[in-house]
Amino acid sequence: MAVIYIRDTGEEIRGEENVRRFLESQEVLYEYWNPSKLPEDLQNVCHLNDEDKNQVLSTYDEEIRSLAERRGYKKWDVISLNKDTPDLDTLLKKFEQVHTHTEDEVRAITAGSGSFVIKGEETGYFDVRLSPGDVISVPVNTPHFFTLSEEKQVVAVRLFIDPEGWVAHTFNDPEFEKTKS
Ligand SMILES: [Fe+2]
Repeated sequence: MAVIYIRDTGEEIRGEENVRRFLESQEVLYEYWNPSKLPEDLQNVCHLNDEDKNQVLSTYDEEIRSLAERRGYKKWDVISLNKDTPDLDTLLKKFEQVHTHTEDEVRAITAGSGSFVIKGEETGYFDVRLSPGDVISVPVNTPHFFTLSEEKQVVAVRLFIDPEGWVAHTFNDPEFEKTKS
């Protein structure tokens, strides 16, 4: 279950109702897809071949189609990152730059963990720490970035309206730099 950490105040928000209420107030979609639906040999496994990735998609077919129907997504895939991913550190550095998109960014975490760091209008930057089952969507034009946690591995289903249009626009923000110190 996701945990929220608000950078300005150091406040942590835990518990399903509290997390849902906070994310709703930020217009961030939140859902939970039961991680135990995955075949046992894929539960919390982040080294996946193409066949495994298809298995993840077929396991959550109903959830994916329901979300796609409600919100207009047309395509979906699965990505996995782990310590054997070539150039993982370079990739993470690239990820950790605040940016925006012209469509929302949906991720369903099915194994491993990671955080979205999102700029709230009034709360400032907050981290959404995600574990298997957590599904979120960062709203259109909202500054954010994604990063892995210490275990450095994740599997996520991504849904797109138009994968070609899903481009990152850098968002230089002195306010974010302050939250790092
Ligand atoms: Fe993004």
